[in-house]
Amino acid sequence: MYLFRKKPLDVLIAEGTDEAHGLKKSLTTVDLIALGIGAIIGAGIFATLGAATSGSNGLPPAGPGVTVSIALTAVACGFCALCYAEFASLVPVAGSAYTYSYATLGELVAWIIGWDLILEYAVGNIAVAISWAAYFRQLLLGFGIEIPAWMATDYRSTLIAARAAAETGVSSLTPEANVAYQAHLNHPEVLGVPVVFNVLAVLIVAFITWLLVIGIKESARFNNVIVVLKIITLLFFIAVGAFYVKPEHWRPFFPGGIPGVWTGASLIFFAYIGFDAVSTAAEECKNPARDLPRGIIGSLIICTVLYIAAALVLTGMIPFRELTGVADPLANALSFVHQDWAAGLLAFGAVVAMTAVLLVFQLGQPRILMAMSRDGLLGRSFSRIHPRYRTPHVTTILTGIFVALFAAVANIDEIVQLTNIGTLFAFVLVCTGILVLRYREPDRRRAFRVPLVPWTPLLGIAMCIVLMAGLPLLTWLRFFGWLAVGMAIYFLYGIRRSRLNR
Ligand code: ALA
Repeated sequence: MYLFRKKPLDVLIAEGTDEAHGLKKSLTTVDLIALGIGAIIGAGIFATLGAATSGSNGLPPAGPGVTVSIALTAVACGFCALCYAEFASLVPVAGSAYTYSYATLGELVAWIIGWDLILEYAVGNIAVAISWAAYFRQLLLGFGIEIPAWMATDYRSTLIAARAAAETGVSSLTPEANVAYQAHLNHPEVLGVPVVFNVLAVLIVAFITWLLVIGIKESARFNNVIVVLKIITLLFFIAVGAFYVKPEHWRPFFPGGIPGVWTGASLIFFAYIGFDAVSTAAEECKNPARDLPRGIIGSLIICTVLYIAAALVLTGMIPFRELTGVADPLANALSFVHQDWAAGLLAFGAVVAMTAVLLVFQLGQPRILMAMSRDGLLGRSFSRIHPRYRTPHVTTILTGIFVALFAAVANIDEIVQLTNIGTLFAFVLVCTGILVLRYREPDRRRAFRVPLVPWTPLLGIAMCIVLMAGLPLLTWLRFFGWLAVGMAIYFLYGIRRSRLNR
């Protein structure tokens, strides 16, 4: 049957090791751990943590219980990370979950996953770019430079803020809504059309895109420096904040009960997305079989320890309700205890951290599109490699345009939820793939084996489904809409153009 035709593993591996057509192989274990941390620590811990803790937008609050949300999410990601590592060491070629599922679950599932990964990589980056812009604007304000509000928000947010101001008064607006409200009051118009868009978000995406077109090794080095800075930023928050912890803020520890911890976990999942991005660089590693599992699992462990410590300190410093609608919860908590100097330094660190996240995802997305194009499921021009820089410049630029366009106009909370549901679904398919492959090809050499199969993948699948179930109905509808568009493209194009036809 067509839809379940599979790409033979040997063909995949041969393609990845074909020096003439492949990418430059220059990454080591340290580069990979740095690539992982580069993707993981970002808008999730610096921004989404506030929403998960305070239950913004009508969702129940996790309160200090967000630490349990983080631990639960870490366990779920741990199960999936083990599966990713086995896959990555078995199929060390570009493309991530897309490639793995092509070899195991067949073409239709592979297409679905490739399409779905756009939600993780490109859509995820839309959220990070928006959050980057919010922090960057704050940072400039600290230096007395004010970027007009209409250049740092989106039109939809201005309408929502205007409605909230009319209903409950301007003084009740959250800091974020306040920026949107200022933009509502004061923006230029061109031919009667209001001009409100996130210029800062567009500029940062353009910069990152340029960096990636000129070459991966340069980008990896840039990333290593930033990663050290972002770990220092979180340690700095923990060290300074620890002096201001008041244990009474931890009572009650679970103000929203189980629903609060559950939705908190579904939201804070965003802070973990990225460990899997390491696997998209498989084709560019020196020794993928050994280094990939180390890179993925190492980065996950380091981030979990930092996150739990940061969340404990945060919720001990400030009553969780104070974080409602706050775009920069960690900096805000430092200001709350009157350490504005520390808040400023932290905002700087957050901007740097999110720059690294943007870099990793803008790096991963083009390589997935390239893999899909090599297989004939997308047009041939998607797999063009730049003759001099040897980077997939066509897909890199297309990704940049897509992310920049939406970052200019979208609302961050909705984008975070859509990213989470899409990524969780991809993880479910990866865990399933491990089960299928152990059954179908039990004897194939695996440099890394998931322990306790089938339990580890089964637990990964179950936990991801539970996290998906914690997201709102509207997010589910958007997710199904996205999948429906993807199916249409496959049945109109990919199914006939697939290289497996030839
Ligand atoms: N984990 C990444 C972040 O938090 C997506 O920004």
